[in-house]
Amino acid sequence: MTEQPKIYVAGHRGMVGSSIVRQLLAQGHPAESIVTRTHAELDLTNQAAVNAFFADEKLDQVYLAAAKVGGIIANSIYPAEFIYQNLMMQTNVIDAAFRHGVQKLMFLGSSCIYPKLAPQPMREDALLTGMLEPTNEPYAIAKIAGIKLCESYNRQYGNSHGVDFRSVMPTNLYGPGDNYHPENSHVIPALIRRFHEAKAGNASSVTIWGTGTPKREFLFVDDMAAASVHVMNLSQAAYDQHTKPMLSHINVGSGEDLTIRELAEAIAKTVGYTGQVTFDSSKPDGAPRKLMDSGRLKALGWQAKIGLVQGLELAYNDFLKTKAGHI
Ligand SMILES: NC(=O)c1ccc[n+]([C@@H]2O[C@H](COP(=O)([O-])OP(=O)(O)OC[C@H]3O[C@@H](n4cnc5c(N)ncnc54)[C@H](OP(=O)(O)O)[C@@H]3O)[C@@H](O)[C@H]2O)c1
Repeated sequence: MTEQPKIYVAGHRGMVGSSIVRQLLAQGHPAESIVTRTHAELDLTNQAAVNAFFADEKLDQVYLAAAKVGGIIANSIYPAEFIYQNLMMQTNVIDAAFRHGVQKLMFLGSSCIYPKLAPQPMREDALLTGMLEPTNEPYAIAKIAGIKLCESYNRQYGNSHGVDFRSVMPTNLYGPGDNYHPENSHVIPALIRRFHEAKAGNASSVTIWGTGTPKREFLFVDDMAAASVHVMNLSQAAYDQHTKPMLSHINVGSGEDLTIRELAEAIAKTVGYTGQVTFDSSKPDGAPRKLMDSGRLKALGWQAKIGLVQGLELAYNDFLKTKAGHI
């Protein structure tokens, strides 16, 4: 039997980290070779603690899915925490990985790294071509620094130490483990909750902010996890063929976008809400369209598998379970 790599999944209790653990187990990776630590057990902003952990564990691979994540409101109120904690976590983990002989690391970023006015669909080479969206600029700057950390370690230590650190940038994600907080959640979990509550309360209508016309892209989280494992396991030759040393990150999207109105109608259907869906056009809309170009990933042999209807059903089932537990 070939020896299995020892893999650390940072952020294993988060939506994406937990899905990466499920994905590794589903692909036959033995549970005893997957290393995890809760935030309470290991604060990744603590450099000494992170170095001690890496020294003890002798890891082969790292998925960096721990981050301080939040919506527009949290990003506006706590910009210092968003930039500081994300810079610290990723810098500590990436540097400790290098110092302790980890050759393969996957850094998870986000589509907010791209300029506010990037041409649609957004290609990887739109990075650093314009101003960022101001509300989450500190978070986006940290994510861009994460990509550049990976690239710089590859460039300096790739040949001498076999360092091979990669980055994936997912579009909007949803699915099991999502945050259903009434004020501080992303659009899909927020609408699942609102339609569920409207159905339970026999509300005749649900009003959604904006005109309903902006288009957005969504990816089921298990697809994101599968894509991360796929990119991690690509041969160096295949990866090098489709990336550049200073333009190495890879977009991960479904390749399809839909209007907020279409999304709302799909969620209402999934939840079984039969009342009216109306739009308050006095409220702001945001960018008219945000879609990733995932051609690079497609060329590397991966495509999303879970469509929106199936994904929403799985997400709603998770909401019902979570609600029964602790919402
Ligand atoms: N959700 C999305 O739509 C989306 C879209 C694009 C990209 N992403 C990216 O995917 C990654 C994971 O996101 P997610 O949605 O899975 O976030 P999440 O559910 O909030 O999970 C983040 C995880 O990081 C852990 N963490 C935070 N601070 C930590 C610290 N100082 N030390 C140790 N652990 C810490 C959290 O633990 P505690 O909860 O215990 O603090 C949590 O388990 C992020 O890099 C994010 O940028 C997410």
